[in-house]
Amino acid sequence: MKKFYPIKKICCIGAGYVGGPTMSVIANNCPNIDVYVADIDVDRIASWNKKDLEQLPVYEPGLKNLIKKSRDLNLFFTTNIADSIKQADMIFLSVNTPTKIKGIGAGKASDLKWVEESARQIAKYAEGHTIVVEKSTIPVRTADTINQILLAYREKDEAISSPKTFSVLSNPEFLSEGTAINDLQNPDRVLIGGHDEMAIESLAFIYRHWIDKSKILKTNLWSSELSKLTANAFLAQRISSINSIAAICEVTSANINEVANAIGMDSRIGNKFLKSGPGFGGSCFTKDILNLIYLCDFYGLEKVAEYWEQVLKINIWTRDRISRIIIEKLFGTLSGKKLVVLGFSFKANTNDTRDSSAIQICKNLLEEGAKLEIYDPKVKKEQIENELNEKNLNSQENFRDGTWEYSESIYQSAINSDALIILTEWEEFENINWQKISANMRKPAWLFDTRNVANHDLAKSSGLLVWQLGRDLI
Ligand code: UDX
Ligand code: UDX
Repeated sequence: MKKFYPIKKICCIGAGYVGGPTMSVIANNCPNIDVYVADIDVDRIASWNKKDLEQLPVYEPGLKNLIKKSRDLNLFFTTNIADSIKQADMIFLSVNTPTKIKGIGAGKASDLKWVEESARQIAKYAEGHTIVVEKSTIPVRTADTINQILLAYREKDEAISSPKTFSVLSNPEFLSEGTAINDLQNPDRVLIGGHDEMAIESLAFIYRHWIDKSKILKTNLWSSELSKLTANAFLAQRISSINSIAAICEVTSANINEVANAIGMDSRIGNKFLKSGPGFGGSCFTKDILNLIYLCDFYGLEKVAEYWEQVLKINIWTRDRISRIIIEKLFGTLSGKKLVVLGFSFKANTNDTRDSSAIQICKNLLEEGAKLEIYDPKVKKEQIENELNEKNLNSQENFRDGTWEYSESIYQSAINSDALIILTEWEEFENINWQKISANMRKPAWLFDTRNVANHDLAKSSGLLVWQLGRDLI
């Protein structure tokens, strides 16, 4: 039998979209392990600790239940990072790793300052042997950086106190927001990369509480790190591919849903991730492809870099293409026109708006002078404000006379509007009462459905003009 380090206490640095749900699932499945989720953001931790579970900082179906069952029993949310590190046998790093905005690699490489800072804190406060697990999406060979920091402290400390030792593992998250709890509970696979067999076994032991061992893959560190980037790059590539075909459908009278269905039935292609839409968003796809491109550039693989760059270019082009179609259909000008935007999150069932296609599309429409009313069932007004950058909005130069308001009701906002634009596939948009909406809109009135979710027949019979992505001629 293989040996492993006993794990009684876990710490996770970063209580975000990844850290919160992941640790809730671990705590639920491992009642004998105490899980501490630590974060520097005092407000965020306060929200995780709120009695009213509707106020949790992350919206994920099924999350509330898990929190209810485990919080304050073996799941704790805290700002005391030092103590959480000190007592932990295993520490997950789930801090954010945004794309660098300045310096070397700006616009491509990930900014690792939070990972580095966390590694330094671990080095300082950890006691005995500690397993450090990279959960954040990081560039390939980040484990090296973490190792070097840990090692430097260890050498420094050895002279003064009892030695600390560390093992670094890579354990990328494959959860998809909106279905995170199910993805964590029933993953396709769990990937653990590392060099220390015992540490790998310790982490595998945790997952084996609820996951069959056949699904737990063990690789070397670098394969694990690269697999995460590759998985996301492939998924994003599929979306750019289908979105490029949607554009062809619109000029040839083909129907993107029919094409997707026809190719998806080929078992070599598969039917998942073939939904055309306004372009992919979220915190990972763009960032991970940029990471991949940076890696290729670094190693002189110019052609490979160019290949992946194209996936991002098509994505941005898709967002701009949709904006252009809306403007053209509304007679080439949006000045003074009221447009209702339905959905601002980057996909349904999440309140996350990072890199949401809605941001770029709304900005494009505002630049043309539109008066937007933005409705989203889960995204708060302040978040939209942050994304659209209120400061710029007030500057005539950037947005001309474009303005936006937060909408509390689709039906109220539709009054005197010229168009409704579906940007996120929220279920409630499938059941809109088009008769009621259309009666109050200024004619000719449009429905632009970039997600193909509305009941188009009913919308048309209520008197609306309808444009569906990848289906209607432009
Ligand atoms: C995830 C992944 O981990 C990341 O690699 C990916 O790029 C984005 O998605 P996520 O949980 O979604 O991160 O990010 P976020 O919701 O921003 O949460 C990160 C948390 O880490 C924040 O609450 C932040 O306050 C916290 N943090 C950051 C720390 O506690 N310490 C730090 O030093 C830095
Ligand atoms: C993604 C990966 O799926 C996950 O494995 C990884 O760990 C993190 O990144 P996430 O970004 O949460 O997860 O959501 P995902 O479901 O992958 O959707 C990403 C974007 O692609 C969304 O904007 C979504 O609307 C879009 N998308 C997805 C499509 O446009 N069409 C599809 O068929 C699927």
